[in-house]
Amino acid sequence: MEFSIDYFTRLADEAVSQIKYPDVCAGLYEPIRYAMGAGGKRLRPSLCMAVYAALTHGNPLDVISQATALEMYHNFTLLHDDVMDNADLRRGQPTVHRKWDANTAILSGDTMLSMAYGMLAKDAGERFRAVFDVFNRTALEIDEGQQLDMEFETRRRVTIEEYMEMIRLKTSVLLGCACQIGAIMAGASEEVCEKFYNYGISLGLAFQLQDDWLDTFGDPVIFGKEIGGDIVNKKKTWLLITSLAEAEEEVEGILGEDLVPEERVTQIKRVYDHLGLSKRCAAVAMRYADEAVAALRGVALDRDAEDFFVDLAHKAATRNH
Ligand code: IPE
Ligand code: IPE
Ligand code: MG
Ligand code: MG
Ligand code: MG
Repeated sequence: MEFSIDYFTRLADEAVSQIKYPDVCAGLYEPIRYAMGAGGKRLRPSLCMAVYAALTHGNPLDVISQATALEMYHNFTLLHDDVMDNADLRRGQPTVHRKWDANTAILSGDTMLSMAYGMLAKDAGERFRAVFDVFNRTALEIDEGQQLDMEFETRRRVTIEEYMEMIRLKTSVLLGCACQIGAIMAGASEEVCEKFYNYGISLGLAFQLQDDWLDTFGDPVIFGKEIGGDIVNKKKTWLLITSLAEAEEEVEGILGEDLVPEERVTQIKRVYDHLGLSKRCAAVAMRYADEAVAALRGVALDRDAEDFFVDLAHKAATRNH
């Protein structure tokens, strides 16, 4: 078996393209097909399949239902997240609430959540209960993380520790969950399940730090999302929190001024550059990528599987989309 991200991405893409939607109620299902068909990195299903295959040397398609459930669930969170973040663009295309409307994003999103639970149960056999427990706990944690993310927009001061906990909840736990479900389905020991969960958590922290950096400094064509939304929404990212700590008056001044969005983004960006935050943020992300790798110490893996997980952690910290 080929142990590469391209291989797992292809399997996930293929499974997504085969999802059957009811012939009725096109207004509900068409936006789901649109969101699921728009591409994306397919990171969560890939993690789930990769962990399963690494531990069993078996066929990653054994867990394709659970992997597809993770992707469906992830896309559900994005439909609602884009409403909450007032985002126009995702994967280079209009977001569902822009192409249709907010009500559509809410209800099609809810439907995706139900579909995800259905897929999670399919072919899970005797492992279903364990899989369900980690999935459902994760879903609740993500809601908590998204709630904190919103509350932080209007809070003047947020610490780096609070930020790290917020991104652990909104982003990392799903990556940890994807790994853990792969491990559970493989029949791994609790210890190995936990090591893979921790791998996903640290990888997710690196991943979200880089997402926040890309939101300000990414190339919109490659990133596929609008640049500067986090600044406009006063999202308390690592960049904004650090700049508030080190150049408080200047940053508060820019945030308090009545500026058009583009000008606010330009000015805040200038402060970030002045403080050298890009390099420092990259170093923090890389530290978490290294922690992810360290979490797998003691797990017996073939060389190609080990290389895969090491590579993926470092890519999460350095990705450009
Ligand atoms: C976007 O996730 C939401 C975050 C947690 C940053 P991805 O960056 O994995 O989105 P897609 O699925 O590849 O588009
Ligand atoms: C998204 O965080 C986390 C979830 C969707 C749960 P962001 O709001 O930063 O994700 P993007 O940038 O819109 O993809
Ligand atoms: Mg958000
Ligand atoms: Mg968002
Ligand atoms: Mg973002």
